[in-house]
Amino acid sequence: SAAEKDGYDSFMLKEIAEQPKAVADTLLGRLDPALGTLTLGAELGLDPAVLREAEKVVVIACGTAHHAGLVARLAVERWARLPCEVELASEFRYRDPIVGPRTLVVAVSQSGETADTLMALRHAREQGATVLAVCNTNGSTIPRESDAVLYTHAGPEVAVASTKAFLTQLVACLLLALHLGEVRRGPSEELREAARALSRAPEDVAAVLATMEPVRELARGLAHKETVLFLGRHSGHPVALEGALKLKELAYFHAEGFAAGELKHGPIALIEPDLPVIVVVPSPVTAALLHGKIVSNIQEIRARGARTIVLAEEGDEAVAPYADHLIRLPAVPPLIQPLVAAVPLQVFACELATARGNDVDQPRNLAKSVTVE
Ligand code: G6P
Repeated sequence: SAAEKDGYDSFMLKEIAEQPKAVADTLLGRLDPALGTLTLGAELGLDPAVLREAEKVVVIACGTAHHAGLVARLAVERWARLPCEVELASEFRYRDPIVGPRTLVVAVSQSGETADTLMALRHAREQGATVLAVCNTNGSTIPRESDAVLYTHAGPEVAVASTKAFLTQLVACLLLALHLGEVRRGPSEELREAARALSRAPEDVAAVLATMEPVRELARGLAHKETVLFLGRHSGHPVALEGALKLKELAYFHAEGFAAGELKHGPIALIEPDLPVIVVVPSPVTAALLHGKIVSNIQEIRARGARTIVLAEEGDEAVAPYADHLIRLPAVPPLIQPLVAAVPLQVFACELATARGNDVDQPRNLAKSVTVE
């Protein structure tokens, strides 16, 4: 009903707007600017040796949760210097994966009921792995069958396309990576700085939400298109994949996300005049090398006529001349950037789908939770 939507036209719009609070709720009590994430150990209740002695982390998840896992990999490798794989849960058990007692498996699921993820986690536990669930639904099957759980506190998510659950999955995965870093490598200035940046995420997400009117206008202007491509690299690659997934789910577009470095190995053949290409640009300050490379990619596709829609940090003037549309993001460290960069892509897909007359809360053919394999 309208009351349940709090005056918003859709649950999706309501849930997009709730993201600063959802992110703050997921952080609440888990991150102390002075102590880092040390209280997380007590919350998880795992034998500390499991975290200290793990030889690798394997993230299993589906759909949007898989994209959160791709960010988790970057954070676990960077902050904990621990090898991390990310696997589509539906593929995991069918390739006889190498998991055992020294593997920490992280099962990411909003609903906690996704059959593919549940089957993968059962397989991992049969091999002796420790399974930690990152989940939004209290008492659901995946946390019940796991050794430990880190709840995302997004609150109920009704719209089929995930928004606030995704942002809180990112937060939970980043908290977990920080914790692994602290436990395995001890405190460091790098981890403290990451913790400070993460604690500012609610305000950063709110700042992005306050500037979305031009994104909505852009989306309405592109509602007649059929294809949109998304490019990113490093932490921007999962954001590109998620932006494309949102557009598939809601607008029924042929939307694809690519790692920008792969452009020359195939996707550039898709570029044609006026094709919208959305590019997530790394920071020119904290990711200068990748920034330069992606600016060249943008020049290449623009020279072939693409309409470039560029998500770039405040103050990034180098990319501005090549952007047909420029969407500004707050300056945050690379591993935090997905939290702010995903938001305009949610708004874009929601507005574009609405302009096409689609039901954004109940897209065709999709279910919120897929409980069959
Ligand atoms: C379904 C939903 C997706 C979701 C995926 C995983 O396909 O439509 O939005 O990302 O399941 O769901 P989970 O509840 O496991 O996060």
